[in-house]
Amino acid sequence: MGLKQKTADLKKRMREAVKGGGSKAIEKQKAIGKKTARERILSILDPKSFHENDLFVEHAGRDFDMDKKYLPGDGVVTGTGTINGHPVCIYAQDFTVAGGSLGWAHAKKIIKIMDHALKMKVPIIGINDSGGARIQEGVNALAGYGEIFYRNTLSSGVIPQISVILGPCAGGAVYSPALTDFVFVVDKVSKMFITGPEVIKTVLGEEISMEELGGARVHSEITGNSHFFALSEEECFGQIKELFSYIPWNNEKKAENFPKKPPRARQFNIDEIMPADPRQPYDVRDVIRSITDDSEFFEIQELFAANIVIGFARIAGQTAGFIANQPLVMAGVLDVDSSDKAARFIRYCDAFNIPLVTLVDLPGYLPGIDQEHAGVIRHGAKVLYAYSEATVPKITVIMRKAYGGGYIAMCSHHLRADFVCAWPTAEIAVMGPEGAANIIFRNEIKNAENPDEMRKQKIKEYKSKFANPYVAAAYGYIDAVIEPKETRSFLVHSLDVSSLKVDRMPKKKHGIPPF
Ligand code: HXC
Repeated sequence: MGLKQKTADLKKRMREAVKGGGSKAIEKQKAIGKKTARERILSILDPKSFHENDLFVEHAGRDFDMDKKYLPGDGVVTGTGTINGHPVCIYAQDFTVAGGSLGWAHAKKIIKIMDHALKMKVPIIGINDSGGARIQEGVNALAGYGEIFYRNTLSSGVIPQISVILGPCAGGAVYSPALTDFVFVVDKVSKMFITGPEVIKTVLGEEISMEELGGARVHSEITGNSHFFALSEEECFGQIKELFSYIPWNNEKKAENFPKKPPRARQFNIDEIMPADPRQPYDVRDVIRSITDDSEFFEIQELFAANIVIGFARIAGQTAGFIANQPLVMAGVLDVDSSDKAARFIRYCDAFNIPLVTLVDLPGYLPGIDQEHAGVIRHGAKVLYAYSEATVPKITVIMRKAYGGGYIAMCSHHLRADFVCAWPTAEIAVMGPEGAANIIFRNEIKNAENPDEMRKQKIKEYKSKFANPYVAAAYGYIDAVIEPKETRSFLVHSLDVSSLKVDRMPKKKHGIPPF
């Protein structure tokens, strides 16, 4: 055969291989709003940038007549490409081929692209759409998962790892996404669970649909396993691209700088957001938008533990990670879920050189039997640990309440914040005036002729003494009391000054965080 014939032969083989599971299986996939594996990759990457690897890999199954089956690419598409011009590694499971189930050759393709990503120090994106371990391949399928989990752990904190759940992700398969940094889900498409409805019914007699058990909403609102929720695959791909505009390509780089843009001040006027009555709530996301470039804010886990808000935004062109108590939801308290949410995000930002901006307004940790028994001590400690350990620039703005453990936990100077400022509306104290007056003036109130009058008077006394920023300022626990409208310039200045910050933890193998 000459070159011409050999080229024709190559093209024929390629045409066969890219057919995946064939037109019937592809139709079934499309009928439920799903794209094919290759379409998904092409939708995420820059046009014409995808280079596929291992198109001709063949599966390794020999039992149950598997040796007679042709599984194109063994049900997974892998390769490299670019996003916003920067290189990434990517894989997408192809549900049309044996339900995207993971056999040894399938796993080897994923392992190979993961190793490549780690060596090249570029992000890895995994698109999951699979029935889990290929049952016919037995322990070899389990071995494949084990090798993937190990690499997820090795890559953690070195390169960004993104999981996109675009179909079933069942059984042990869920643990790869769970080990990665950001999990994207799509309504009615994504399904994640360790054991499916059938097994639950057999073992426990409980009945539940797949959607109710592990659908996109469940993981976005209840479990916190996912970080981004979309109504369609297209919306999800847009979210992935947006995320990549905020994060650096690996742990030795900084996020790309963008041209500076002022906030949209007419729409988000910082002086008009905080209500006059300190007991009234407001949406802290309006405060964030009043500070950030073009008032943009890329929120993460919007639907989970909404009493804390986390996400990325740019200030004078530079990415910052925002952590803010949300007075609109449960007065912004820290509880089990919000502590987990904040702590993980803080660690992400620290690993990837993203400065932390903390906006404080909380009455403290949530009291209650449920919370105590759910382990609020252990979970709450994660916030203390994550902030204390973080060596990136840490800037804190105390807007209103900073009571008790909440004051310490929300990146106080004591956890080595680099810059702490407070608004004149700040109240920094061991607890709120009402609770405090009831305890420390208990006898005066009880013995007074008019206890209600006495209580009011004592609350007033306590407020004027402690419910302000000046006591903390007098001890140097905050660096400045500023007007709200000065917040952006305070942050711009603090970020500039700390851009060369070097800070190190004591030498150790690793700490033991309260996981
Ligand atoms: C082999 C599989 C498979 C699997 C699906 N298929 N899952 N083949 N191993 N795990 C095959 C089907 O036989 C079928 O082949 C094709 O994929 C499409 O599957 P359907 O069932 O027709 O699709 P659908 O009705 O959409 O249902 C999808 C599904 C269901 C819900 C995912 O297939 C399912 O329940 N699969 C098993 C899920 C599961 O229990 N996985 C856990 C495995 S144990 P044909 O030839 O008919 O087209 C595990 C442990 C790993 O993962 C532990 C690691 C630590």
